[in-house]
Amino acid sequence: MSDRTPRNRGAQRGSAQRGQAQRGPDRVRKVAYQVVRQVTAEGGYANLALNKALREARLGGRDAAFCTELVHGTLRWQGTYDVFLARSVSRRLEDLDPELLDLLRLGSHQLLNMRVDSYAAVSEMVTLTRSELGQKRTGLVNAVLRKISQRSLEQWISAAAPSIEEDLIGHLAVAEAHPRWVIEAFDRALGDAAGGLEDLLAADNEPPRVTLVARPGLSDVDELGGAGAVPARWSPYGAVLEGGGDPGRIEAVATGRAGVQDEGSQLVALALAAAKVEGEDSNWLDLCAGPGGKSALLAALVDQQGGRLTAIEPLKHRADLVRGNLRAIPGDHKVLVGDGTKPTWPAGSFDRVLADVPCTGLGALRRRPEARWRRTPDDVRELRPLQEDLLDSAITSVRAGGVVAYVTCSPHPDETRAVVDAVLARRNDASLEDARDLFPGVPDLGAGPDVQLWPHLHGTDAMYLALIRKA
Ligand SMILES: C[S@@+](CC[C@H](N)C(=O)[O-])C[C@H]1O[C@@H](n2cnc3c(N)ncnc32)[C@H](O)[C@@H]1O
Repeated sequence: MSDRTPRNRGAQRGSAQRGQAQRGPDRVRKVAYQVVRQVTAEGGYANLALNKALREARLGGRDAAFCTELVHGTLRWQGTYDVFLARSVSRRLEDLDPELLDLLRLGSHQLLNMRVDSYAAVSEMVTLTRSELGQKRTGLVNAVLRKISQRSLEQWISAAAPSIEEDLIGHLAVAEAHPRWVIEAFDRALGDAAGGLEDLLAADNEPPRVTLVARPGLSDVDELGGAGAVPARWSPYGAVLEGGGDPGRIEAVATGRAGVQDEGSQLVALALAAAKVEGEDSNWLDLCAGPGGKSALLAALVDQQGGRLTAIEPLKHRADLVRGNLRAIPGDHKVLVGDGTKPTWPAGSFDRVLADVPCTGLGALRRRPEARWRRTPDDVRELRPLQEDLLDSAITSVRAGGVVAYVTCSPHPDETRAVVDAVLARRNDASLEDARDLFPGVPDLGAGPDVQLWPHLHGTDAMYLALIRKA
């Protein structure tokens, strides 16, 4: 777990600043606290809020890295820290001011997962408390964080989590920082898949590598290699920036000939493009297109055979993002602002349709540190009718003999197989096909006919694909 590796930077920061504790809060910790507050109190997104804050505070290099780890780690592990804090505070956590709770979570992350020197972590958080919430609260922060510092993360887990024998899911919820209902859904989805539940949860706690896509006909992996990326494992268009860095500095990315796209997203779009279709094959539809990563890959591919892509997106600002992603792709592609459940085109208009439906995003927890605590089982229930309507509309939109890819970036069975089964049960003109051959060389694809990719097995987001053929 990368969060648990020693952070020499943190330790150096801490000891170097010991003497300054009375002078004012550490600027980096203050920025991190403000970003965490924006996320927990105002419903902000960590990645957006953090990038903006780093820019405004002009933090770069090691300060930016320290701040990023503080924000992402605190948000990712907050549920676990709350279990420990509940045992260290004399009142109920719900009765603590939310500002105070966020400070305690930030302090806990430094003490338990960053190995910042304990004295420095506590004293920096006391100073930050004084500046943000006033002198009166410093006593509590000091006392609680000292209690937290008396045990390592592993010792806290042994003390506060249920044992593996007594309650495996409850144990993993604390040890791997995921809500219980999410672990239960993953467990159902994994079934007999190779690799364990624990590996999956641990993989969710690792920040993903930056993966690029060379848009076919416009760039290639060799060009991206020249910018320091190495070929991805399975996508012939994928390349990984192993050392990280800003992809926007790469000319092919800046001009739209390449883009940033998880390898799993590339693989599901490529699977749709590779499915066998007899006869006419020039009209492709992306029914839920925004922000347009898959649209761009599909448009570049269909352009190579003289066809065109139509992309639908109901939100205007997201339709604009699709246009941006398509800017370098030659051909007569269309981006329409519209509702995919209310087609304005005749039934059977398209040869291939992608239905990459709105979902909980539980398959992309690596890149959204706060998402696991924000999502609820109600989200899954509420999204279900829209997911079914969009798949139904996709099947209606494809011609006889054509194919639909139903895709989610969630492995939750109620968003994946259950949706496909429900829609196919109502229709007698479409059936599920084995999609595993459309992922050449990719191991551990399970029993089919649908395909579930996993972070711990494939290093991708947990993308799901079901391939449906119209009779
Ligand atoms: C999972 S995202 C698609 C991601 C996209 N395929 C990509 O690779 O960049 C789902 C998209 O569906 C859009 N959406 C929501 N309701 C919709 C509807 N009724 N019809 C079509 N799209 C819809 C959302 O706004 C969102 O942009």
